[in-house]
Amino acid sequence: SMLVRSSSSAKQSLIRRNLSSGSVPERKVAILGAAGGIGQPLALLMKLNPLVSSLSLYDIANTPGVAADVGHINTRSEVVGYMGDDNLAKALEGADLVIIPAGVPRKPGMTRDDLFNINAGIVKNLCSAIAKYCPHALVNMISNPVNSTVPIAAEIFKKAGMYDEKKLFGVTTLDVVRAKTFYAGKANVPVAEVNVPVIGGHAGVTILPLFSQATPQANLSGDVLTALTKRTQDGGTEVVEAKAGKGSATLSMAYAGALFADACLKGLNGVPDVVECSYVQSTITELPFFASKVRLGKNGVEEVLDLGPLSDFEKEGLEALKPELKSSIEKGVKFANQ
Ligand code: NAI
Repeated sequence: SMLVRSSSSAKQSLIRRNLSSGSVPERKVAILGAAGGIGQPLALLMKLNPLVSSLSLYDIANTPGVAADVGHINTRSEVVGYMGDDNLAKALEGADLVIIPAGVPRKPGMTRDDLFNINAGIVKNLCSAIAKYCPHALVNMISNPVNSTVPIAAEIFKKAGMYDEKKLFGVTTLDVVRAKTFYAGKANVPVAEVNVPVIGGHAGVTILPLFSQATPQANLSGDVLTALTKRTQDGGTEVVEAKAGKGSATLSMAYAGALFADACLKGLNGVPDVVECSYVQSTITELPFFASKVRLGKNGVEEVLDLGPLSDFEKEGLEALKPELKSSIEKGVKFANQ
């Protein structure tokens, strides 16, 4: 195991930071799984984020190269690469935000739940370390199956006695990104202006885009809305099949992960009215975890927002997703407690 520090000395970086960052608070962001398909472009995008003062890149392999490479970019954050379990504590200490894209991705023919056996164990170990070394950090869970890995994290944190439901987030931003892109294509509106909430979970039918609330409004037929919903639900599989065995979404996921992390940092910094969809502990439905619009603040989740009015088609979709989401949550809870 080893450690690579890109700046020549801590003192120098401190001086540089004080000169360049003005009143923007210091924020340490750790990426666990930083050398992977998502981790590398996510590290790049977080290095470009001026809200980050320290970027900690952890993986079980290949982090020195990624850290040296990203560290040469002349933006605010100091970059440090950490490799191997012995360095996980240092990677996490002082982190304000931990992003987790560690674990195996899907291959054609696999569901996200097929990843459970490998990724559940990885997430469990990483969350035990978070509980120990940065118990106050916000956690952005990307590793699949998100519907189960978020409940696993919650259980591990409960066992450690530091669980704060306001600080744990399943990243469903890519579902929102896809829904916006696909909607703009059919509605013939500028994609940059589109907003679409996506609720439920992050797998197949548990992903429920609310196109009835999409803005700018468009008069799309029932058939088109059904097709748009299905394409959003199957967006991940579309990429898995196109990559033909070489993995799942990495570039669009890195973009989505960077967007959500930026929203979390803005919330921490006290920027008002930061709202994103995320899979969080929730009382919006009878399910203990549910994705919906969330207002972010200085402590993480400030408010879980109501679903708003649903079309009949969306009401049916909501009822239809509950059994699968419920069983994925229970599977995660059971795993963490066995
Ligand atoms: P990848 O295989 O390219 O990278 C995963 C990285 O995790 C590798 O560098 C590996 O060394 C590292 N890793 C494995 N065990 C680790 C451990 N114990 N600690 C730290 N790092 C560890 O996979 P990719 O494409 O980056 O995907 C990562 C995860 O993200 C998968 O579970 C995938 O299903 C999920 N994903 C989630 C999405 C979402 O919307 N939430 C979208 C796309 C992927």
